[in-house]
Amino acid sequence: MSTKDTVLALFEKNKGFYVSGEKIASDLNISRTAVWKAVKKLQSEGYEIKAVTNRGYCLDKESDVLTAHGIRSFLGDEYPCLKPEVFVTVDSTNNVCRAKAEEGEEEGYVAVAGAQTSGRGRRGRSFYSPAGSGIYMSILLRPEDFSEKQVLQLTTMAAVAVSAAVEKVSGKTAGIKWVNDILIEGKKVCGILSEAFYKADGSLDSVIVGIGLNAYPPAGGFPAGIADIAASVFDYPSPGLKNELAAEVMKNFMAYYTSGTGCIEEYRKHCIVPGKDITVIKPGEKLNAYAVGIDDDCGLIVRYPDGSEETLRSGEISIRL
Ligand code: BTN
Repeated sequence: MSTKDTVLALFEKNKGFYVSGEKIASDLNISRTAVWKAVKKLQSEGYEIKAVTNRGYCLDKESDVLTAHGIRSFLGDEYPCLKPEVFVTVDSTNNVCRAKAEEGEEEGYVAVAGAQTSGRGRRGRSFYSPAGSGIYMSILLRPEDFSEKQVLQLTTMAAVAVSAAVEKVSGKTAGIKWVNDILIEGKKVCGILSEAFYKADGSLDSVIVGIGLNAYPPAGGFPAGIADIAASVFDYPSPGLKNELAAEVMKNFMAYYTSGTGCIEEYRKHCIVPGKDITVIKPGEKLNAYAVGIDDDCGLIVRYPDGSEETLRSGEISIRL
């Protein structure tokens, strides 16, 4: 963990109270200059830390900060394998998780960050991951004897886990836009990117399920390219919400993952696409179609204007209004 991360964890434990630079330095065994630099960086990333001469530093008690301690307080002890580690900023939590997997980290490790400098989306796109407003997390899995089909189902499980968690914590209705975007009132609040890694002998080594949630509206709003299609789960910050939502997603996901029963019925309940007119986006062409339903393997059954049907296994669609 970086100095910035440990300083933030200490502030979170003492939220609403002043801690002197001297005490922080001695508790963390670092210099006072290092404390000052960490505070400056955290402030520049949007953390509301007050600095008062002769009193020290204080993290605003109303601020909502992601911490391992905070997430664990909502996790309970149902899934002891879940091991969240929280970073202030990383390049991509999928990369952090992958590096941990290569070091031999066990299933259930979760890299969580408050910002990503190179967040990855599907199809080589980047994922907007500014500081302060999002929850970016990657869950490390080491499935044994999983077929390719079961590996693909992990993304489906994540989509269901996120929609249920969003609904529970925010009270809003969350829908899944096939394959795995989570929407509130037609706008995307979460994207999922799963990556599978194989050993030299071809057997499955690990799967990393990366989940990016827009918890709050970013400072200054969403950038022009996504302002019309992106939204946030909550309208304004409230203490503990991000930790609660992160924990709820992890617990829901583990419930499906460990049950072995799949989650296709829950996926169908949440999926907003069937019954709608859609555009199927294929390399070099866009086709109008009607979304008939979701098959048992989470394929999207579509009917084209000439009456022919196709089951899409992956790809991209948009809903026509
Ligand atoms: C998409 O909508 O295209 C998928 C976005 C996935 C973003 C998440 S954020 C956490 C994890 N780390 C990444 O770099 N990507 C995923």
